[in-house]
Amino acid sequence: MTEFIDAGASPRSCASKLFVCITCRLIGETTEDQERPGARLMTTLSQLLEGGGQEIEIVPIECLSNCTRGCTVAVSGPGKWTYVIGALDPEQHADDVVRFARLHHAHDEGLPVWRERPVHIRKNTIARVPPLAT
Ligand code: FES
Repeated sequence: MTEFIDAGASPRSCASKLFVCITCRLIGETTEDQERPGARLMTTLSQLLEGGGQEIEIVPIECLSNCTRGCTVAVSGPGKWTYVIGALDPEQHADDVVRFARLHHAHDEGLPVWRERPVHIRKNTIARVPPLAT
């Protein structure tokens, strides 16, 4: 099981967190004979964020409870709204995820402007959760 990283203990505690479910399958996929699409998405996102500064910390997670609509990620940050996004194809939507995570990080409350969000993200946001009161 993947360990959850304590945001308060991290030297990058101001960074947005991009949680990636590494056990997700694509919608309708049942085969077990290859690497899980969620793991492929994690690899691609890690490559895209490599050397991109400290603003987004990518964190692998085993299941975000959106298993029937994978692949799944969640974007969160201290004092910000959290978004759960599904129906992600690692070969098609990794750039959209990175773009959304950067918009989320850039907004004080983690509320990217609707029209600036990638279309696939707009159409496949499973939930958004308000920040905890401090
Ligand atoms: S396996 Fe990815 S959300 Fe459950």
